[in-house]
Parts: sequence; structure tokens; C-alpha cells
Amino acid sequence: MTISGGGRLPETLDEAMAELNASVDVDSELWREDIEGSTAHARELARIGVLSADELDSLLGGLDTIREEIQSGAFAWDPALEDVHMNIESRLTAICGAVGGKLHTGRSRNDQVATDLRLWARRRSRELLDAISAMAGVIVDLAERELDTLMPAYTHLQRAQPSRLSHHLLAWQESLWRDYGRLADAVERLDECPLGAGAVAGSGFPLERARVASDLGFGQPMRNSIDATASRDFLIEIACALAILGVHLSRIGEEVVLWSTREFGFLELDDRFTTSSSMMPQKKNPDVAELVRGKSALVIGAATSLLVLEKGLAYGYGRDLQEDKRPIFDACQAVWQSLRALTGALATARFRRDRLQAALGEGHLCATDVADWLACRGVPFRQAHQIVGQLVREAEVRGVGLEALPTEVMARAHADLVCPEVREVLAPASAVERRRVHGGPARERVVEAIGEARERWAAARNAQPAR
Ligand code: ARG
Repeated sequence: MTISGGGRLPETLDEAMAELNASVDVDSELWREDIEGSTAHARELARIGVLSADELDSLLGGLDTIREEIQSGAFAWDPALEDVHMNIESRLTAICGAVGGKLHTGRSRNDQVATDLRLWARRRSRELLDAISAMAGVIVDLAERELDTLMPAYTHLQRAQPSRLSHHLLAWQESLWRDYGRLADAVERLDECPLGAGAVAGSGFPLERARVASDLGFGQPMRNSIDATASRDFLIEIACALAILGVHLSRIGEEVVLWSTREFGFLELDDRFTTSSSMMPQKKNPDVAELVRGKSALVIGAATSLLVLEKGLAYGYGRDLQEDKRPIFDACQAVWQSLRALTGALATARFRRDRLQAALGEGHLCATDVADWLACRGVPFRQAHQIVGQLVREAEVRGVGLEALPTEVMARAHADLVCPEVREVLAPASAVERRRVHGGPARERVVEAIGEARERWAAARNAQPAR
């Protein structure tokens, strides 16, 4: 079979051109979807009378054989046949004879590859949605388990105010929730089938495109044949959603790295998610988190590649689009691996409650609470802020915490501060419970947040089609 030439051009390509031209090492990933798309197209060709019932049976039988061959590893992929589509079609013709050549009636590789990619993107995205939801599930479980573990909340990576570990974990979960929504939204939008769009201006055969679309589980055919073959924003959307998710996983990874240090000592990863050093026998490194942080760079790169790939293309298929596959495949794979590994690492990690609580002890974390307390007694907050700021300075000079300042120092700062209630104000545990606002770290709020998160994720899971 001649691929590059057809009847129009010579059969052989320059060797360098052949190498540039071939994509099967990458796009063979699409084999399931290619067979699925060809099956639907063959059925439609039979319905409009292009294929007899026997011819259809022969083609479907051939496609089944090819599926088995690929699954078992017996299929011989040939780069000279360029891509996944021509490899499969060529084998089909070898199996079925000349009727194999009828399969491409009313179809172009342009609508074929766009269809394959949408089917692939939908399947892969749904797997990723499940993986995001599984990770969120583990985080919510941890939040429940660690409900009574207090820790500092940080700004500028400096201890800021007393909070609880669950509250921090639920912050991770909130980012994942938005990531889930972005990806689910992208999947919803790609629910349109390009088949029948042909190379660019549609097929002259009376294909019932809505029927083909529904055979493949799409909501409807794409409305415009030029758009159907020229547009890859469905991949860009997914890649961008994954890039944002990648950034979140990377930030979580960064915290796991920090928290695993001796300096923080908040967290101990299970040994199975760490590695040692080839030189330093004592090392236990949080590689899982570092790799997740690293993989996010690749995902951001993929989103960038896809944006740049499309930006200079006039409407209509351009061969540049062949280069859309590696970035989206790699991005999905990187995020998939990251989600699974980080989920496992978190599920098996041990939080060091003693260290988390102890971190509340130094850093005058209740300074805001003292200022707030004065403000409640009518001192303008700005003035209260100034008063407490001076007390912190005094405490720093003496090398003690705010709560250890002698009464006379407190009294000098503001007469009200000698009140015994101030001791309570300076206790981290009560400071956390005072933050009872919606979205705050007080125990009752976090208990509600955990329940609400569980319901929200369960509803999202139920809304996904069963697999
Ligand atoms: N391998 C090609 C791709 O991935 C298939 C479409 C080729 N179309 C063409 N007109 N050469 O984009």
C-alpha cells in the first residue's frame, strides 16, 4: 500500500522525511479508539449501502482480530506506514482483502484522528477524574483522623496564627475540587463527534453523522466540518486543567518535602515512598513529593506546547497537528502517576502530632488574638496592633513568648492586659476555637467542612457515567 504518495506521488520518501513523517511510535497509543471509530464508521457505511452485510462482517471480524493482535503484542507496527491509522488499515486489508480498502470511504484521516483523540481524551480524563477524587477522599479521611491535631497556619512561610491540621488538609482538598471541576467541564465540552467532517469540507456520502456520534457515545456531531478537523482546543483545555492541577500537586509536594525535614518534622513518609542515597547511608529522601513537584514542569510545558502548536494555524487541518499527541499523552501520564503516588504516600504517612502542636509554642502566634481582645474592649484595632507589636518586641528582647511576659510589662502596655482572661486569649487551643467564622479552623466548622466535602465528592462521583 502506498501511504505518503497515493497515486499522485512516488512511493518512497527521502529517509529524513520518512523519519520526520512517521508518528506511529507515539500515536499507536490511540489504537483502541482507532478501532472503535472504524467500527462505528463501517457500520454507518453498511447502513447507507456502501458496504454489504458480508463486507461489514468481514471488516468487523478483521478489526476484532487486529484488536487481539495488538493486545497480545503480536501486531507488527511499521513506521513506514506512518501512523496508527494506516498501520491498522493496512493490516485490515491484509486480513480481509480488497474490501479493507472500502473502510476509508467518506472518511479522511483528518476527521479520523480528531475522533480518535476525542475518544482517547474522554477515556483518559475520566480515569484522571477518578484519581483526583480518590486523592481527595484520602485527604478528607486524614482530615477526620487528625481533627484534634493543632498546628500553626503560615503566611510567608512564617508561623502566623494557630490553626488545625485538618483545616490545612482541607485547603489541599479545595484546590483538587476546582481541578476536578475544570477537567469535568472540559470532558463535557468535548462531547461532539468529528466523524463525517472528512478532510475539511465534509463527506459527499450521505452519512448520518448524529447516528455515528451516538454509536460512539458522543452527544452530537460537531457542527462545522472545518472546525471539527482543525481544532484542538479540547486538548488545550485538558492540558491547562492538568497544568493547574500539576501546580497544586507540586505545592502539596513542596509541603510534604518541607514537613519531612528534620527542621519541620511534621510528617514521616512511609519508607516505600522514599529512597536513600547511593553515598550517604543515613538518608531517607521524600522522593515521591520531589518527583511530583518535578513532573508538574512537564505538564505546564505540555499546555504551553499545545497552545503554541495551534496559534499560527489557519483554519483547516495542518500537519503540525500531528505534534499534538506527545504533549497530551505525556501530561496525562505524568498527572496520573503523580496522583496515584501522592495518594498512596499521604494515605500511609504518619503525622507527628507532638511536633505539629509544639510548633504553636514559639512565634507569638496569639498576638492577633490579644490585639483582637483589646479591640473588643473598644481600643481601635490599629492602636491595639501597635500595643501588641511593642509587647512582641519586648518578648523577643527577653527571649520569651508573649504569654511569659511579666504582669508589669503587660500593665504598662495597656491596663486591661492584667486581666486574667488574657491568659486564655494567649492559649493557642482557644485561639483556634475563636475562629468560628465560615471557612475557619474552629473544630465545629471543620467537622462541618469534612461532612460537606464528603457529600460534594460523593455527588460528583455519582454524576460521572458508570465504568
Ligand atoms: N497522523 C496524522 C495526525 O496525527 C493523521 C492525519 C494526517 N492527515 C493528513 N492529511 N496527512 O495528525
